[in-house]
Amino acid sequence: MKAIVYNKYGPPDVLQLKEVEIPRLEDHQVLVKIHAASINFGNLVLLKGEPYLARLAFGLFKPKYSIPGGDIAGRVEAVGKDVKEFQIGDEVFGDLSGCGWGGFAEYVSVPENALALKPANLTFEEAAAVPMAGVTALQALRDKGKVQQGQKVIINGASGGVGTFAVQIAKSLGAEVTGVCSTKNVDILQSIGTDHFLDYTKENFTEKTERYDLILGVNGHHPISAYKRVLNLNGRFVHVGGSGSQMFQAMVLGPWISMTEGKKMGTFLQRANQKDLNYLKKLLEDGKIKPVIDRCYKLSEVPAAFRYFEKGHAQGKVVITI
Ligand SMILES: NC(=O)c1ccc[n+]([C@@H]2O[C@H](COP(=O)([O-])OP(=O)(O)OC[C@H]3O[C@@H](n4cnc5c(N)ncnc54)[C@H](OP(=O)(O)O)[C@@H]3O)[C@@H](O)[C@H]2O)c1
Repeated sequence: MKAIVYNKYGPPDVLQLKEVEIPRLEDHQVLVKIHAASINFGNLVLLKGEPYLARLAFGLFKPKYSIPGGDIAGRVEAVGKDVKEFQIGDEVFGDLSGCGWGGFAEYVSVPENALALKPANLTFEEAAAVPMAGVTALQALRDKGKVQQGQKVIINGASGGVGTFAVQIAKSLGAEVTGVCSTKNVDILQSIGTDHFLDYTKENFTEKTERYDLILGVNGHHPISAYKRVLNLNGRFVHVGGSGSQMFQAMVLGPWISMTEGKKMGTFLQRANQKDLNYLKKLLEDGKIKPVIDRCYKLSEVPAAFRYFEKGHAQGKVVITI
């Protein structure tokens, strides 16, 4: 099969399209013929081995996993003898980041609990855009942010992969949503039902008088003290991504603020799981959310896709058609 392979950390140029063996199928695994995959920030960490701490998990001196790629959508080609949930021919989607990666390839063997049935109304490209970004947005809002119906939520970095899902999931949970984006992305946020917009190139929401029940820090940066200022009493700030200093502040100062003031502030790490994939499947099939795709690349163009994604200005998701 064809796959994107690398054997040293580095820029996207270290990725090469090669002919490799189709992965062996274990008894508890499903062999998926991959039709589409997508890029997330975690892929960049895996590619570059940065921050260095990540090498403890991904390989100290060279990558432990030679085929990158986490989010996939495809069709089941074969099933191991212990597999219960899937049959040959099923259309599936999933996140492989917790089970060895391998998504930028024509085939992958994965444990069945990394997969869910693909939403029937989505193309493979649309389905591949969902798993990590969608689950991250869901867990940040529902589990960490404890969002409630009628609450005022602001999403800083609303126009990228995670942000476009966060806006729609927050709306589906009954929140009033403000999206922070730049001028060129206002149309995108409008098309997915955002209630209010703030253009970060023109105004700084942390300096305004409006207060929020929940702030999701997905991209961009403001000091944690600035976020705290515009939170209602009992409000929450959830750091999802953005700059390293923002993460540091959320990890170090967040717990202190949470203990001493009536506001909860902190960071979180998403956990891939089948239950949340199925939760998103239902929202997608009910038409409550839809993936926003910026552009699609071919498997041979994965390095170019990474070069585009790492600029940090994708409008929705960057997808690979296989
Ligand atoms: N905690 C977790 O478990 C977890 C899981 C997944 C991802 N993440 C993190 O989530 C973050 C976002 O991921 P993503 O996939 O959504 O990234 P992405 O798709 O690359 O986000 C790009 C978007 O961010 C916007 N943006 C850039 N600078 C901004 C600023 N100063 N203010 C507001 N928006 C800005 C861009 O809009 P413009 O082009 O207009 O600037 C663009 O639309 C990353 O830092 C990633 O590490 C965390």
